Amino acid sequence: MRHLIDIMDLNVEEIQELIDVANDIIANPDDYAEKCRRKKLATLFFEPSTRTRLSFEAAMYELGGNVLGFSEAQSSSAAKGESVADTIKTVGAYADIIAMRHPKEGAPMVASMRSDVPVINAGDGGHNHPTQTLTDLLTINRVLGHFDNITIGFCGDLKFGRTVHSLMNAMSRYENVKYVLISPDELKIPEYLRYNLLEGHNIEYVETQDLESVMPELDILYMTRVQRERFFNEQDYIRLKDSYILTPEKLENAKKDMAVLHPLPRVNEISTAVDSDPRARYFEQVKNGKFIRMALILKLLEVE
Ligand code: NCD
Repeated sequence: MRHLIDIMDLNVEEIQELIDVANDIIANPDDYAEKCRRKKLATLFFEPSTRTRLSFEAAMYELGGNVLGFSEAQSSSAAKGESVADTIKTVGAYADIIAMRHPKEGAPMVASMRSDVPVINAGDGGHNHPTQTLTDLLTINRVLGHFDNITIGFCGDLKFGRTVHSLMNAMSRYENVKYVLISPDELKIPEYLRYNLLEGHNIEYVETQDLESVMPELDILYMTRVQRERFFNEQDYIRLKDSYILTPEKLENAKKDMAVLHPLPRVNEISTAVDSDPRARYFEQVKNGKFIRMALILKLLEVE
């Protein structure tokens, strides 16, 4: 039985297979409409979500399956003090596969160790978010057609942004990928990633606080929200939240075929005036999220 806890649980060939299946689903949706008949997905969300939970649910419905679950910890027995391990054992009695989001780093991994069915990490605290990364990779693949030889800028909250951490890990396995890390000092990537990933794998990277000066180099600009819920102190959040606001003027120096991605939700970091720019790909990214999750559910349920 396979789980998806960390994006590195999948090798690059498996990622390519998922992308190929997702592209086939986009082209031939009817072929997949009955693939998960009578199967059930449980979505256990101990933290807020719009896209991740609804795209998982939509994915399972489009495969002909059914969905159960909860969207806040308060409405589950976690509120009575039940452990994650006991919750997962229980849900495994009713569902064939589980997508779980939790504020504690590592909770989905602990759950997977006790689970009788595949567990998917749908975001664990400020740590990882592998299915957002699959969404990002499908989008990059559809926009650029390749992963090698690109310069990718990560902008905003690189400290707490779990989507950034997972995407950085995933991109480290392709050839000649250069990282440009754009953030205020306080929101730089965690030290464990700097040492294990960037320096451990000799990745070419630069760090800067200035988005505009690096804009012309970027093939992908990955914008992120400052993760308010991970701050210890509201004053720090208020001081840092508007560090970067992408506007049409700031895009003037960007490559004509650059892609702006964002896992969403956005707060202020991309002006809505950017939405009509052909380089804005974040709503396309939202759509891709459902298709790649369909491919992932098929893989983990071992459906042909
Ligand atoms: C992200 C998340 O939950 O980490 N959202 C998502 O799943 N698309 C990003 C965020 O909340 O900022």
